[in-house]
Amino acid sequence: MVRNSARDRSGTAEAATAETVTSAFVTEVGHDPAGVWAAPGRVNLIGEHTDYNDGFVLPFALAEWVVVAAGPRDDGTWRVRSLTRRQTVSFGPDELVPGGVDGWAAYVAGVVWALTEAGHDVRGADLVLTSDVPAGAGLSSSAALECAVLTALVDLSDLHVAPLDRARLARRCENEYVGAPTGLLDQAASTLCEADNALFLDCRSANHRQVPLDLGAAGLELLVLDTKTPHSHLTGEYGDRRHACEEAARILGVPALRDVTLEGLDDALARLPDDVMRRRVRHVVTEDARVLEAVAIADEGRPADLAPLLDASHTSMRDDFEITVPTVDLAVETARAAGAHGARMTGGGFGGCIIALVPEGGSDTVGQAVAAAFAEAGYGAPAWFVGVPSAGAR
Ligand code: ADP
Ligand code: GAL
Repeated sequence: MVRNSARDRSGTAEAATAETVTSAFVTEVGHDPAGVWAAPGRVNLIGEHTDYNDGFVLPFALAEWVVVAAGPRDDGTWRVRSLTRRQTVSFGPDELVPGGVDGWAAYVAGVVWALTEAGHDVRGADLVLTSDVPAGAGLSSSAALECAVLTALVDLSDLHVAPLDRARLARRCENEYVGAPTGLLDQAASTLCEADNALFLDCRSANHRQVPLDLGAAGLELLVLDTKTPHSHLTGEYGDRRHACEEAARILGVPALRDVTLEGLDDALARLPDDVMRRRVRHVVTEDARVLEAVAIADEGRPADLAPLLDASHTSMRDDFEITVPTVDLAVETARAAGAHGARMTGGGFGGCIIALVPEGGSDTVGQAVAAAFAEAGYGAPAWFVGVPSAGAR
């Protein structure tokens, strides 16, 4: 059966649970953990590549998590096992410099580093983690990992770090320790989201609020479909887009593209040197406007009206920002043809997931249509599940 759920799409058919990490912790470490912490992946409903332009985003946290069991160590070192990676990595204070730990454990060492840089005294710890957020699919498995570990270490070390500061520290880990030049979107979503809501975040002021998202009341659900085309923010394309935006802002004499209004867009475009830069700017400015429109629509309880915005966002990412790939475009087109009311790529791009607004109960029909189209095109099988707006780190 082609049915994919949140639980079987990774092929392990295993949910990330407290029981799993607790019993693995006991086996690994020899005693009970002090507790279990978790932080979710996210989808971004709309607002792509706007965060590092000081703009607006509207993500929600998923019910897919990184779950970590943790307990203190007395020797001032950290030892972390990823059950999904089947690897254990240890590091000590000497490795708390960017580049000190690489691979997946850099996301853990980077969190300890960011907390330490902020002046916090972080206790040594044993950590055992698992995850049902697919890695490299654009659903922020890395932010979920950072935020879960950060939440655990803050509690274990009796630190007081406000939620927004937690998100900022996790982002600092990603930017400065891991070296991915990303914005605040993922860590803010993983930290600040609440169940049944999306998070409206102004990435300049960091002002944010919950926006109720009751898709069921409108007879809808949100399909999340993983094209299984992996992406990475450590490769050049993401950084190139970011650089182009910063260069355009410099030419236009504004602090960030957030400062270009929709009304002023044509004038701004006329001042840019080439067509590629004009299209990059047009994406960011129109995408910011779409987020504001989406928030107004959600506030008024009209989620069905999000559909044309999702479609317009995808077109803008495909034609202006040029961050989609053939698998993603085929998934979006097929989803619409199979009954989705609106669909777009979500996340940083160059692969990863699409989201589609579909009639309640219709996700499998749409997912199967995409699977058939992928088979015909010679692509590997996608996986899908229904995205449920869930709570952030705890
Ligand atoms: P995304 O955040 O969109 O999933 P990234 O490339 O930013 O993609 O992050 C994926 C990386 O996060 C993985 O390559 C790995 O280093 C790390 N990661 C994610 N989940 C886990 C896990 N369960 N165990 C260990 N590392 C993980
Ligand atoms: C990645 C990145 C975010 C954001 C997004 C595109 O997920 O981590 O910061 O820039 O791409 O909207």
